[in-house]
Amino acid sequence: MAELRIQGLGKSFGNGVPVVGGIDLTVHSGEFMVLVGPSGCGKSTTLRMVAGLEDPNEGQIFIDGVDVTDRAPAERGVAMVFQSYALYPHMTVAANMGFGLRMAGLKPDDVEARVHRAARSLQLEPLLQRRPRELSGGQRQRVAIGRAIVREPKVFLFDEPLSNLDASLRTQMRGELAELHQRLGATIVYVTHDQVEAMTLGQRIAIFNAGRIEQVGAPLALYERPANLFVAGFLGSPRMNFLPAALAEGLAGSLPSGTVTVGIRPEQLRWVIAEDTSGLPVRLDRIEHLGDVALLHCQVLGGGEPVIVKSALGPTGLPPLQHTLWLQADRGRVLAFDSAGGLLAR
Ligand SMILES: Nc1ncnc2c1ncn2[C@@H]1O[C@H](COP(=O)(O)OP(=O)(O)OP(=O)(O)O)[C@@H](O)[C@H]1O
Ligand SMILES: [Mg+2]
Repeated sequence: MAELRIQGLGKSFGNGVPVVGGIDLTVHSGEFMVLVGPSGCGKSTTLRMVAGLEDPNEGQIFIDGVDVTDRAPAERGVAMVFQSYALYPHMTVAANMGFGLRMAGLKPDDVEARVHRAARSLQLEPLLQRRPRELSGGQRQRVAIGRAIVREPKVFLFDEPLSNLDASLRTQMRGELAELHQRLGATIVYVTHDQVEAMTLGQRIAIFNAGRIEQVGAPLALYERPANLFVAGFLGSPRMNFLPAALAEGLAGSLPSGTVTVGIRPEQLRWVIAEDTSGLPVRLDRIEHLGDVALLHCQVLGGGEPVIVKSALGPTGLPPLQHTLWLQADRGRVLAFDSAGGLLAR
């Protein structure tokens, strides 16, 4: 394991428009760092530059303090796992996992020992003599991870490794990856656009937007104290409600003057049917039942702004559609953002 430090890293392709705009990021030794952000924001390009598969236009990459920016991929001590795991169809699992090591000239005994060790940690031992077509999607993905583990890299790079799997397999593999990280103590940089994956796997998360990093921090810290509107709206499903300050006056308490946007997460809102003039009156338009909770899609009376409330089902059930509800919020947790989108201290 090793520390990865990215300094002023930038990349633009042919047309000169930067797709990664000078990013700085340090991944501590043994840390599980997740890069997350919307499609096209530059996550894969960043990872590919760290792997050496793409040349940066500016900036440097250090692994354990050594500048590897100009080194060939094989000489950086990194191993990358892709979304399309591209196993050799005619080779067994064992041969697939050992292929890179044999190419690098390792002795057959050493290759076998490493393959068996990795297979044990990934529960692939019973499958070592199978071919990829005889495996499930999750098993194939484990082989691809095994192929990275046997190389004993300083840094693991994962680019959306679970997005080809169905939901339940993804959940299972998520658990296995977290466990693997604990066991290996490896430094991992993991790219995803799935915020649940980011929140559950990352010790820290870097939120990307349009080629830049908006904020880096522990998952819950980002969820509770997002630095700006982008991060606030990106993490959380359904996303945070945003209201003009004047509307949210009663919910948010005293707010600074100027154009302020108030942010309230759906789970921080409570509703009552009886008129409560200190609350925010809304009309209930639609109910989505998720089983354990329901999402109440509402509109602010008069203004028409959409508001979503995440509601327990409750012993008395939910109100009928088109009813007026009065909303209250946990004032301590309501956030406010200035006109530039930055979080206001309170
Ligand atoms: N080889 C290339 N030539 C030109 N443009 C490219 C090239 N590779 C990527 N891009 C552009 O760079 C931007 C960032 O791409 P990148 O693959 O890093 O995004 P991403 O964050 O990984 O997105 P996704 O979540 O969809 O995988 C995109 O606008 C993409 O079209
Ligand atoms: Mg990508």
